[in-house]
Amino acid sequence: MQVFSTPDSLKAFLFEQRSQGKKIGLVPTMGALHLGHLELIRKSVRSNDITVCSIYVNPTQFNHKKDLKDYPRNLDQDLAMLKNEACQVVFCPEDQVMYPAKPGLSLDFGYLESVMEGRQRPGHFNGVALVVAKLFHMVQPDCAYFGEKDWQQLVIIKQMVNDFSFPVKVIGVAIVREKDGLAMSSRNQRLSTEHRSVASELFKALSVVRQQLQQLQQIDKAKLAGVKYLSKFPTINLQYLEIVHSTSLKPPSVPYGKEPLSICLAAFLGKVRLIDNVPLFDNLN
Ligand code: PAJ
Repeated sequence: MQVFSTPDSLKAFLFEQRSQGKKIGLVPTMGALHLGHLELIRKSVRSNDITVCSIYVNPTQFNHKKDLKDYPRNLDQDLAMLKNEACQVVFCPEDQVMYPAKPGLSLDFGYLESVMEGRQRPGHFNGVALVVAKLFHMVQPDCAYFGEKDWQQLVIIKQMVNDFSFPVKVIGVAIVREKDGLAMSSRNQRLSTEHRSVASELFKALSVVRQQLQQLQQIDKAKLAGVKYLSKFPTINLQYLEIVHSTSLKPPSVPYGKEPLSICLAAFLGKVRLIDNVPLFDNLN
C-alpha cells in the first residue's frame, strides 16, 4: 500500500497506472474508519485495479470549530485497516495542500441544500462539494464511492458530477449498521454509554415510520408516529424527521403517488449529532 500526502506525488503515480490501462476507484473519507467505510473500499477493490482512499478531515464542511477539533482521528489504525483490505493507495493531504488559499468559489445547490442537513448546517455542502471536486481533479477516478448513510450528500455529489460533467461514475453503497441497527459512524465513538444504549432507537423510529407508510400511506401520520416514538426517549433530542422524494428531496405527493421516498432524521444524543435514513421504494400495495 502506498501512502501519499501531496497531489503531485499522487498524480505522478496514478498517471503511470492509468497509462497501463488500470481502472481507478476513489473512496473519499475523513478517517476514523469503521466497517461502513470498509464496505465502500471493498466495493471499489472488487471493481477497480487501483483503489485510492483519501483521508482528510475537511475543515470547510464543519459548522463549528469545536466539532472539527473533536472529530476523531486515528491515522495509524486507519492505515492498518486499509492495508488489510488490500487498498492500494491512501491519500492523506495536509490543510495547506488542499487549501493553499481561502477558497473564493461558493457552490449553491439550490433546493437540494435548503432542506435537512443543508438547512441545519449552512455552507456544509459547499465545503463537501469543494473538497470532493478537488479530490476528483487530483485522482481522476473512473468510479467514486459514497455511502447512502449521507443520503443528501450522495444526491448533491451526483448533481455536481452532472452539472460539471465530471467523467466519474458515482456509486452509492447501502448503509452498514451495528447489530442493534445503529448506523455505523465515526461519531459513534464519542457517545457516552448511556447515549449509546438508546442510539439504536433512531433506526427503530425510522422503521416505525416506514411500517406506518406501508400500512397507511399517509405521510403526516407516519411522520408523527416516528416523532412520537422518539419522544419516549428523553436523552434523544430530535432535530428533524423528514419524508422526502429520494432524488429531488421534495415533499412527497399527496395523495402518495408511489414515488421512491427516503425517511431521514438527525438527532443530538448529548453533544453528538447523528444522522440516519431508510429508503421506501415503490413497494407499497
Ligand atoms: P465520512 O463521514 O468519513 O464518510 C466517508 C464515506 O463513508 C461517505 O460516503 C459516507 O456516506 C460513508 N459512510 C459512513 N458511514 C457509513 C455507513 N455506516 N454505511 C455506509 N457508508 C457509510 O462523508 C464524508 O466523510 C465527507 O463528507 C467526505 C465525502 C469525505 C468529504 O469530506
